[in-house]
Amino acid sequence: MTTDFTRRRFMEAAGAAIVTGAATATTSAQAAAGSRGQTIRIVGISCSPRKGKTTAASLRVCLQAAAKADPRIDVELIELAGMKIDGSLAAGLPLEPGQKDDFPRLVPKLSDPRVAGIIIGTPVYFGNMTSLCKAFLDRFIAFRKNNFALSNKVAGVLAVGGARNGGQEVTIQSVQAALFCQEMIIVGDGRPTARIGATVWNNGKSPVTEDEFGMDTAKNLGRRVAEVALKMAATGK
Ligand SMILES: Cc1cc2nc3c(=O)[nH]c(=O)nc-3n(C[C@H](O)[C@H](O)[C@H](O)COP(=O)(O)O)c2cc1C
Repeated sequence: MTTDFTRRRFMEAAGAAIVTGAATATTSAQAAAGSRGQTIRIVGISCSPRKGKTTAASLRVCLQAAAKADPRIDVELIELAGMKIDGSLAAGLPLEPGQKDDFPRLVPKLSDPRVAGIIIGTPVYFGNMTSLCKAFLDRFIAFRKNNFALSNKVAGVLAVGGARNGGQEVTIQSVQAALFCQEMIIVGDGRPTARIGATVWNNGKSPVTEDEFGMDTAKNLGRRVAEVALKMAATGK
């Protein structure tokens, strides 16, 4: 992998006719943030096609816990619902005339040096992530081609299923496999639950935020991502 990948080639890889803003390597800025006590950001991405539903609600709880962990942390929730993200563009295919592509406007947001942690949330669809989530993660090839622009950012995963044991854990592992390919630092939910990520149950009757077990894992994931992101920022890694 070339290390002098130019901004122009990065934008091409991102399919980025509409990208604005710089996408730069993370490490030096993270170091600066940690040592100067500046804020770092943790971004949650909801990969449900349904806006504002159980995945987004669970991520909000997760992000609130991250923000509560330290005053230097700010958080942002991005919902992919309604966005057009075509996974096949990851293979280098050109945009069709008139085809809409929202991925490029996410590129500067995620590769922003202030972003030290990313939490991916997805509903479980037949034992795996949603197709929207997979398309989104396939497009991360743009970061990989840009000198691994997400390298050393901390990543955590949250999955919401319609059953208590509906495949949340295998779904989390599937998302994690894609994130490993970005040289991200993958963490699970922290103590006391301390397993592979946030596993939430939408029972279809009460608000998902009443799933006490799932919300504990969501909070512990948010806090764990925050803790490790701060440690990474302090060491400059
Ligand atoms: C196509 C489809 C497949 C699903 N497959 C599963 C599944 O395998 N396991 C499960 O627990 N829930 C499954 N569900 C339920 C969703 O994971 C659940 O409703 C989730 O809360 C939806 O997230 P959202 O409210 O953010 O859209 C499925 C839902 C759909 C639409």
